[in-house]
Amino acid sequence: MSATATETRVAVIGLGYVGSVEAAVLAASGRTVIGVDLREAVVEAMAAGRAPLAEPHLEERLTKARSLGTLTATLDLAHAITSTEAALVCVGTPRGDDGELDTRALLAAMTSIAQAVPRGGTYTIIVRSTVPPGLYGKARAAIDDVVAEGARIGLALNPEFLREGSAVRDREDPQLVVYAADAPHAEAAIRAIYAEHASRLVSCDPASAEVLKLVNNAWHALKVSFANEVARISRPLGVDPFELMQLVCRDTKLNTSAAYLRPGMPFGGACLVKDMASLATYAEHHDVSVPVMQHVLASNDAHLAHLLSAVMTHRTESGEGPARVAIVGIGFKPGAPDVRDSAPVAMAIALLDRGVAVSVADANVLDARVPPLGIDALRVALGDPRAIACESVEEAVRGADVIVVGHPAEADRRALVSLAPSLKGRVLDVSGELSRALSEAERRSLAPVDVLRAHA
Ligand SMILES: NC(=O)c1ccc[n+]([C@@H]2O[C@H](COP(=O)([O-])OP(=O)(O)OC[C@H]3O[C@@H](n4cnc5c(N)ncnc54)[C@H](O)[C@@H]3O)[C@@H](O)[C@H]2O)c1
Repeated sequence: MSATATETRVAVIGLGYVGSVEAAVLAASGRTVIGVDLREAVVEAMAAGRAPLAEPHLEERLTKARSLGTLTATLDLAHAITSTEAALVCVGTPRGDDGELDTRALLAAMTSIAQAVPRGGTYTIIVRSTVPPGLYGKARAAIDDVVAEGARIGLALNPEFLREGSAVRDREDPQLVVYAADAPHAEAAIRAIYAEHASRLVSCDPASAEVLKLVNNAWHALKVSFANEVARISRPLGVDPFELMQLVCRDTKLNTSAAYLRPGMPFGGACLVKDMASLATYAEHHDVSVPVMQHVLASNDAHLAHLLSAVMTHRTESGEGPARVAIVGIGFKPGAPDVRDSAPVAMAIALLDRGVAVSVADANVLDARVPPLGIDALRVALGDPRAIACESVEEAVRGADVIVVGHPAEADRRALVSLAPSLKGRVLDVSGELSRALSEAERRSLAPVDVLRAHA
């Protein structure tokens, strides 16, 4: 461990699951830690090196900290702040009456910390609690409202991903440590606290740090619900749901991997739509309640509606809505010449329905010879004389008010890259296919149509 790592003294505010583990692990690693809580019994236990809650290895770390003399605990928050360089805030953010997280205790604790930083002092507040989107701005304002003259308080968001039952192990061996810090001294404090995990540190913006933890937990919740729905469908069929899900998880290429987890076009193709519909319909016919599965196609349709809205609310330089839209990459997925149940095709049809002319280019589809693939299938799918199937990307984008990048073939992507300077402000890069092929500067000058415009 580097010198700065042990020299950075930290206060841990809130000694529940997250805070007691945080304090114990840091103190057992040799760092000077002062734990703070409002509950006297918790403070007493921590000060005496006793675990305030049952969590594997917590007592061991506290015993080690006690032998090193690195951990104290107090009810006196101001004392803890004036004796340290950084505070890890682990106060609870329970579910509020309206379903949102209740951040009142967290903001109150942060205000108290800021008030305790003396004039001219430098301090870092690191939020480990789970927070809702927008918390950073509120917290920054609350801190700036009360900060003493000349004091510099850096604020960092650093969501905790530990699981109760393996909290100590998770904290000591994290997959990744995500943080957003708004001052160089806050960044330095994070680096000192995570010196052992330097290679796993990932810096991001505050909005990403806020939402990441909620997204992670929503993903876990979705997986549990999915597995339970599978069990409800399979049990009456005499299928063992445990074995079934084990088989599902054995495919680590498609099923338990990053596959299908990149945002972009709605799903489509010959299989996903019909098979999803089949399972949901089977469940409905057999009175099995599977609300997650029942709504997957609706979610897919909502995404298409969202993308359409982004196109339709786009305004040309003359303030008009789009009269012509080019779609590059019309297959149902990247690299596929198949247009069956293809979202880009559905998009083209919906645009035609709204009176917008559509030109499409797709080297893969043009190359495909066998029905139901190929350009004939595309013409049939579009079924409208105003839909122009073009021979090249250049031809398709000429005069188009918006260029939707769907699932472009490699050759079409290269064509888009070389045309990028002339497409400024007109590209809806749905899957980020074009952006990824550009440099940061080129991406900025492309000024793509905001995929999220529909929610603005
Ligand atoms: N429990 C988990 O598995 C877990 C995992 C990751 C993240 N989180 C998040 O971390 C946060 C803390 O979770 P927890 O389970 O440890 O909560 P908890 O309710 O067990 O503990 C919170 C502690 O904060 C104390 N506290 C409240 N206000 C205080 C103040 N002003 N000063 C000092 N102490 C104060 C409370 O007395 C309590 O001991 C929450 O936002 C939670 O969502 C929890």
